[in-house]
Amino acid sequence: MLKNKDLLGLKDLSESEISLILDTALSMKKVLKSGEKTTNDLKGKTVATLFYENSTRTRTSFEIAAKYMGANISSIAVQNSSVQKGESLIDTGKTLDALLTDVIVIRHSISGAPHLLAKNVSASVINAGDGTNEHPTQALLDMLTIKEKFGKLKGLKIVLTGDIKHSRVARSNIFGLKKMGADVSIAAPCTLLPCDIGKMIRVYSSAIEAVKDADVIIGLRIQLERQKKGLYPSLKEFNMFYGITEELVAAANKNCIVMHPGPINRGVEISSDVADSENSKILSQVTNGIAVRMAILKLLNKNG
Ligand code: CP
Repeated sequence: MLKNKDLLGLKDLSESEISLILDTALSMKKVLKSGEKTTNDLKGKTVATLFYENSTRTRTSFEIAAKYMGANISSIAVQNSSVQKGESLIDTGKTLDALLTDVIVIRHSISGAPHLLAKNVSASVINAGDGTNEHPTQALLDMLTIKEKFGKLKGLKIVLTGDIKHSRVARSNIFGLKKMGADVSIAAPCTLLPCDIGKMIRVYSSAIEAVKDADVIIGLRIQLERQKKGLYPSLKEFNMFYGITEELVAAANKNCIVMHPGPINRGVEISSDVADSENSKILSQVTNGIAVRMAILKLLNKNG
């Protein structure tokens, strides 16, 4: 069982809770591979998606996951909702409670917004990305993708490269992968690193040095919407030193896989050759997103 009614971040999940989610996701993959793709786990339940920021993968896969499990889905278009008339996040949440919503999936530009919502509603709240804090379901689907390839997480050398400072995906992956016993390190220019990150993880200023013996390289999107200008000389230079190129992949282990949460900026964080190569798991990550979100919806429902 999961300890809490909500899934807000991997910082607060135990190793056994993460293992439970990954094992449940593996069984959900079997359901997805079967002809029907459906379960009745959420029959009669209502799942609302409340996205204050844009999304393709996360929102769609939550909605597909809920649909495959028999739930009613309410997709709130924040741009056309009463948020535009000044309704607060708490009042929107209480309204969704009053509409008998069982699960609220929220994405917000402010770190901590899902935590505030969770304290004020009886529905389960799932964090689908909050500011620069966490994106737990992305990290869980990343872990599932790695586990599928290598059969384990413990002891694998995993390198995250790029914009660590603004990346909620990086934070969730660092919390989660370390709990699962992976050997995690990061490569970034110092302007794209959070303060004091070196106290919790190995930091490289050179990506090519970082990926020596790496089993997994995870690229991160340059978060132009969250950062000031002037953190690196140009996108071309960023690509040259921290982008995932064929040269970078050649410096890692022979069986190394390459991942990216998407959306990808080809030629910036990752070259097209690598994104479309055999090493790339980018589209498998998207598919695994459905299985992981089905698993989380199932496990939170049991807490309900
Ligand atoms: N990885 C991810 O969060 O993608 P979306 O922004 O498309 O949901």
